[in-house]
Formats: sequence, structure tokens, C-alpha cells
Amino acid sequence: MTGLALVTGASAGIGEELARIHAEKGGDLVLVARRKDRLDALADELEAQHDVSVHVVAADLAKPGAAASLLADVEALGLEVEVLINNAGFGGHGEFHDADLDREQRMIQVNIAALTELTHLFVQGMVARGEGKVLNVGSTAGFLPGPLQAVYYASKAYVNSFSQAVAEELRDTGVTVTVLCPGPVATEFQEAADLEGVKGFDFAADARSVAECGYRAMEKGQLLAINDPKLKVMLEGFLPMIPRRALLWISRKTMEKSA
Ligand SMILES: NC(=O)c1ccc[n+]([C@@H]2O[C@H](COP(=O)([O-])OP(=O)(O)OC[C@H]3O[C@@H](n4cnc5c(N)ncnc54)[C@H](OP(=O)(O)O)[C@@H]3O)[C@@H](O)[C@H]2O)c1
Repeated sequence: MTGLALVTGASAGIGEELARIHAEKGGDLVLVARRKDRLDALADELEAQHDVSVHVVAADLAKPGAAASLLADVEALGLEVEVLINNAGFGGHGEFHDADLDREQRMIQVNIAALTELTHLFVQGMVARGEGKVLNVGSTAGFLPGPLQAVYYASKAYVNSFSQAVAEELRDTGVTVTVLCPGPVATEFQEAADLEGVKGFDFAADARSVAECGYRAMEKGQLLAINDPKLKVMLEGFLPMIPRRALLWISRKTMEKSA
């Protein structure tokens, strides 16, 4: 796949690896995140190693209107996005009633609103051209409610659901939508979300293998990808059979911090 890809959250973790994979395949890129220094360094690295053009747009997707202004920036550069990778996102930890509401609202803005708006804005051009690919980064967290990360889990349930619904709507348009649902991954996510010491991250995957899993699924136009086969069996096979209260208890236990 060598069309121009726009990757949000390309300054770290899974997004950075997704950008690397796309460049390795010879695709041009627009890298988006807040930390411009990191994006510039990645752009230099990828342009030096591969025959690709890499553009950088620093943007805070927590700001309302960020998606529209990103589209305007891309159009001003004369670029046409053929692959949209909505990866930017962050979590949090703690009981919801004690949480900083401003932070929870920013989470909703980045994880849900910006992803929705970017999909809307960029998919229109793809449909008109009769081809395009979208990869949204959801989460296995979206398969169940998440006590101690209530808003984050709910935001990922939205991403998982929204992506599959739009994929079905676009079935005959030449545009595919794939949702990548990683289990725990070793990235800066844990530190950013105050999740260090949380038991659920004891067996975290590496960002490169998770990005490869998502990118492969997007290339094939698959609906949903879970990077860990055991987790996939658990979530799709066993989870629906667990009584709701027991599921909530188990979910909370996996998000508690080690003493
Ligand atoms: N790590 C996990 O265990 C895990 C599991 C399942 C799903 N996921 C999902 O995978 C995606 C990538 O996470 P990661 O693990 O790679 O985490 P990460 O290493 O913390 O990277 C997060 C990326 O999102 C960007 N971002 C955060 N807030 C932003 C904002 N307001 N505006 C623009 N960009 C913003 C960050 O860039 P700047 O800080 O430079 O803005 C960074 O590039 C997220 O959607 C996350 O929910 C992660």
C-alpha cells in the first residue's frame, strides 16, 4: 500500500510504528501529534531511510475544531489522504467520581470526537475517488466496561462499534474501515494514564508487533483485528458467557495496582 497516509498519534508507541511500516512500504505520510520535535525527528528518519515524503502537522486533537483545521492544513499542502490512521488516544486511572472532569472531557474529545470527525471529513474524498482505507485504533478494552477506567473503556467501545458500522455502510464503495483492538501494549500509554503497576499490563505486547497486526488487517480490508490470539478467544468466546456482575469484578481486578 503506497498511497499517502495520515497517522494521528505518530509521535510515540503504536502510531510511530504504524508510520514506520507505511514508510517501509514506500508510502508518503502526514504525521500528526502535539510533540512536533518528535514528529520532525521521525520525518527526518523516514525520509533518510526510504524514498518517501513525510509532512508534519502539530495539532492538539483535544481542541474542538482540530479535525477541520487538520483537513485545511492537509489541503493547503496540496495533499490527498488515501489512508487514514486514527491512532491518537489516551487513558486514565481512578474512580470516575474523583476524576478531573476536564481531563475526561479531553479524553472523549481525542478518543471519540476527533476520530469521528476525521473519519467523516477524509472518507468523503475516498468515497468520491472509489478507494481508500481507514484504520481506527480501538481496544480490547472496548469489549467490556472498565471500572477504574470507565471513560476510557467506554470511549474504546465507541471506536470498536462506530468503525464496524461505518465499514458496513461503505461495503460497496471501495473504501474499507478496520478497527485494531490491541490488548495491553508496552508504550508511553501507561505513564500518560497513570497505569504503572496495574496488573493487566504484566504481559504487555510490543508496539511493533501490534502495529504490524493492525496494518496487515487494514491492507486486507478486514473488519477487526486483535493482536493476541488468546485474548481474542477469551473476548469473543468466553466473555459473553460470564455473568455481568462477575465480569465487572474481574475487569476491576485487572485494573487494580499491585500493592
Ligand atoms: N498501550 C496500550 O496498552 C493500548 C492498548 C489498547 C489500545 N491502545 C490505543 O492505542 C493508541 C495509541 O496508544 P499508544 O499505546 O501508542 O500510546 P502512546 O505511546 O502514549 O501514544 C499516544 C499517541 O497519541 C498522541 N496524542 C495523545 N493525546 C493527543 C492529543 N491531545 N492530540 C494529538 N495527539 C495526541 C500522542 O502524541 P503527543 O503526546 O505528542 O500529542 C502519542 O503520539 C491509543 O488510541 C490507545 O488508546 C493502547
